[in-house]
Amino acid sequence: MGRLAKKVALITGAGSGIGRETVRRFVEEGARVVAADIDQEGLSRTLALCMDHETRDIPPVASCLLDVRNREDWQAGLAMARDRFSKVDVVANIAGIGVAGSIEELKLEDFQRMVDVNLTGVVLGCQEGIKAINASGGAGAIINMSSIGGLVGPSDIAGYCATKGGVTTLTKSVAMHCAERGYPIRCLSIHPTYVDTEMLDPVASELGINRADLTKGMAAHVPMGRVATPQDIANVVVFAASDEAAMVSGSSLIADGAQLAGPRSAHS
Ligand SMILES: NC(=O)c1ccc[n+]([C@@H]2O[C@H](COP(=O)([O-])OP(=O)(O)OC[C@H]3O[C@@H](n4cnc5c(N)ncnc54)[C@H](O)[C@@H]3O)[C@@H](O)[C@H]2O)c1
Repeated sequence: MGRLAKKVALITGAGSGIGRETVRRFVEEGARVVAADIDQEGLSRTLALCMDHETRDIPPVASCLLDVRNREDWQAGLAMARDRFSKVDVVANIAGIGVAGSIEELKLEDFQRMVDVNLTGVVLGCQEGIKAINASGGAGAIINMSSIGGLVGPSDIAGYCATKGGVTTLTKSVAMHCAERGYPIRCLSIHPTYVDTEMLDPVASELGINRADLTKGMAAHVPMGRVATPQDIANVVVFAASDEAAMVSGSSLIADGAQLAGPRSAHS
């Protein structure tokens, strides 16, 4: 039995990076999944990745075009989960965008785009997720992808930090609300350091450096000496969604290779 056997999850941002790997790991652990994204081509690649290429087994995954900014899309995606797999236990809000820039450089239209996807999208996912999980009648979890930028404020990602900080405290408020109402729904946020995904591509081109040099430079800021892989983070989502995390709610799960643990020793 997998760690997520019998669970049904809707995962956003499933067409790339952390979301794609989370879908793959959820299926590996026995979950049935609605993989949601605005990128149809990315979703097709995710589904192909979940296919067992030896047995040619059809994976228990449905794909759904879902814009997290749109309530009707959320309702349709969650209805798809109920129609195909009869219930909803887990909503993983992973879709997100990042535009770099200090507070003086930040363009208001870029900030607004990040608010719409990173924050409004998660608010809608929590609202519609609570309804869908409650309607399914069992215990469930809502997992929100924040960032270390949702806990501290590096100067070069001001707008991104503002949205991810919002996700951090929204998560706590949702966890408190569900607990106070007696809903058996946990809500957690996850805070990765740099993760080697497509999200870093525009950063490299903006800085005019190649991708390998970018990740090498980022790794130098992580005490454990490397950036995270999508699988490092997907494994945290698996734990958060599983019954192993039954008493974990309102928490910020940090996966940062000790980056926020403390200042570097003067002698290192
Ligand atoms: N990569 C990192 O270094 C890093 C670090 C910390 C946190 N995160 C967070 O992890 C999450 C996933 O990031 P990633 O690195 O996998 O990025 P990614 O760019 O590889 O994937 C993001 C996915 O979100 C989708 N998406 C964008 N807007 C959407 C919308 N309106 N509706 C639905 N889907 C939409 C994209 O199509 C894409 O498939 C994001 O929330 C990001 O902020 C990433």
